[in-house]
Parts: sequence; C-alpha cells; structure tokens
Amino acid sequence: MVIIFVSDPSCWQQLYQRQPPSPLQRLHHPLLEQHRLTLWIKRDDLLHPLISGNKWRKLKYILRQALSEQASGILSFGGAYSNHLHALAAAGHRLDLSTVGVVRGEPQSNNPTLVDARRWGMTLEFVDRQQYRRRQDADWLAELARRYPGYVIVPEGGSCPQALPGVTELWQELERELPALDELILPVASGGTLAGLLSARPASTQVRGYAVLKGAGWLKEEVCRLYPPAAQDHGWKLELSHHGGGYAKSSATDKAAIAELAKQLGVPLEPIYSGKALLGLLRDIEAGRYAAGSRLLFVHTGGMQGARGTL
Ligand SMILES: Cc1ncc(COP(=O)(O)O)c(C=O)c1O
Repeated sequence: MVIIFVSDPSCWQQLYQRQPPSPLQRLHHPLLEQHRLTLWIKRDDLLHPLISGNKWRKLKYILRQALSEQASGILSFGGAYSNHLHALAAAGHRLDLSTVGVVRGEPQSNNPTLVDARRWGMTLEFVDRQQYRRRQDADWLAELARRYPGYVIVPEGGSCPQALPGVTELWQELERELPALDELILPVASGGTLAGLLSARPASTQVRGYAVLKGAGWLKEEVCRLYPPAAQDHGWKLELSHHGGGYAKSSATDKAAIAELAKQLGVPLEPIYSGKALLGLLRDIEAGRYAAGSRLLFVHTGGMQGARGTL
C-alpha cells in the first residue's frame, strides 16, 4: 500500500508568522565597564521551545519549500546530540512532514536528543564515523535519494543556500530594536548562520564569528561557498583560537568559567556553542581586542537541548 501524504503549508504559517522577534537583553559585567563597551545578547534561544536558536531561522524556508513542493520529507545529517536533527524532528512533527536523521553513532545510541527525535517520528539511520565522513559524497547522496524518494536532502547543520534568507531576518529585527551596532558576534560551526548574516550585513556593522571547532582554517572558504560575495567583504572575520580543544571539548576550567558566566549574566549557556563563544569574546575584551566605546551584540544561537545531562 502506498500512502500519499500531503502536508499543509498553512501549518508553516501558523508556526512562523505569529513569532515575535527574539528578546534583546543588555548584559552587565565588570569587564564591559572597564573597557567602556556596551553588550547586548539576542536571545534566539527563546525563539521556540523546541526549534530554537539558529535552527529556527535556518530551517524556516527549507521547511516552507519542502511543504510547498509537497516533498515526501526531509533527510539530514548530524551527530548523536545534534541540535539540528533535534529541531528538524520537532519541526517535522509539528508540520506533519516526515524526517530522516542520518546519525554519526552506534545503532544502540540513546540519549535525550535521540529519544526526542524518535518520539517525534524521525527515522534514524546510524552510520560509523568513516561512512559519516562521506556525507557530501555524490554517490552516497544519490543512494540516499533512491532509498528516500521525494525527500529533500539537507546538509549537516542545515547549512545550505536555502538557509540564508531565514537568518537575514535577524537584521530586520535589529534595525527596529537596536540600530547603530558596531559589531555582531556569534558562534560558528558549519558556517551557515554566519553566511546568512553576511548576506544582509549593514555596512556600519562588522561581524565576528567565533569558531567552536579546532583547525577551522577551511571555514572561511565554506562561508564564501555558501555566500560567494563574502569573499569580497572585508567587514567580517573569524576568531579561530577559542575552540577550547575542539568541537564539544572544553577544559574543566573553561566549563566552570562558562557556568559562572551564565550565573553572572543571568543567561543560560551551554559549553559547546554560545557559552564557548561568549567566553572567547570576554577573553578578547580583556585582551583589549574590542575598541572602547563600541556597541556589541552577541547572538545566543540556542542549543541548550544538546547539553542536557552535561550541565
Ligand atoms: C546551538 C548552535 N549554535 C551555533 C551553531 C553553529 O551554526 P552554524 O553551523 O550555522 O555555523 C550550531 C550548529 O549548527 C548550533 O547547534
């Protein structure tokens, strides 16, 4: 029996169009006063209880397109704690859209992220590290497309050109709420969020991405692949030295510093993305790498779900 299932684009409108801008919060810290800096945080982690942070923005038009083209579903890739797969599973459940997660891990892997994803109906396929490295390989993608006909295949982290328009909307919110910003700062992994922000960067605001991965020399090229005009744009840079030892790694000292920072600032932080990048930002402020008098904004990209059990 073939089940033909047609998702309803009006669900997408209900999900996305009633959404107010994410809150802005002014941060207070002795280092900011000492260096005469003003820092706000854009609480994208509060955009949605399940599809939070940059996932909310990156998935927005990918989901709309899949629904309007009546795709059979969306297939994507991620690690066993992937915020992206978690958000995709939640969105699929909410929008009645099938989802498949190709997960780097053992079939018996279980953690709160995967439990949620299964509960929301995501089909999980587990692959080992070696196979996962082939996630951009045309042959494997063709095989997945054969096995999941009619599915939209979205790269790891949801970082693809279709993700960019949803991210640019963050600037529209800022234009109304916080004009004349000198610098916007964010954590970076696969580069899609940064590429989206560069695609609508106001000339007066510099963008600085804090890489959370070690050895991310390739990242600049990847951002330019996602948004080619970034190669000619001199208004952005990547900070590559605050990776804390590598992706999802942090020393006990850094973890404690992030937990303390969360308390001091009154903002929940996890150590993989926003906590790591915010700690890097404060260390750079302390080292005098931000011009006195600057108005700065840090984007909290969410991801608290991935840190369950580790905080
Ligand atoms: C919570 C969180 N913040 C930031 C990022 C980094 O975003 P990007 O991969 O678009 O660079 C990710 C990964 O996608 C993430 O899960």
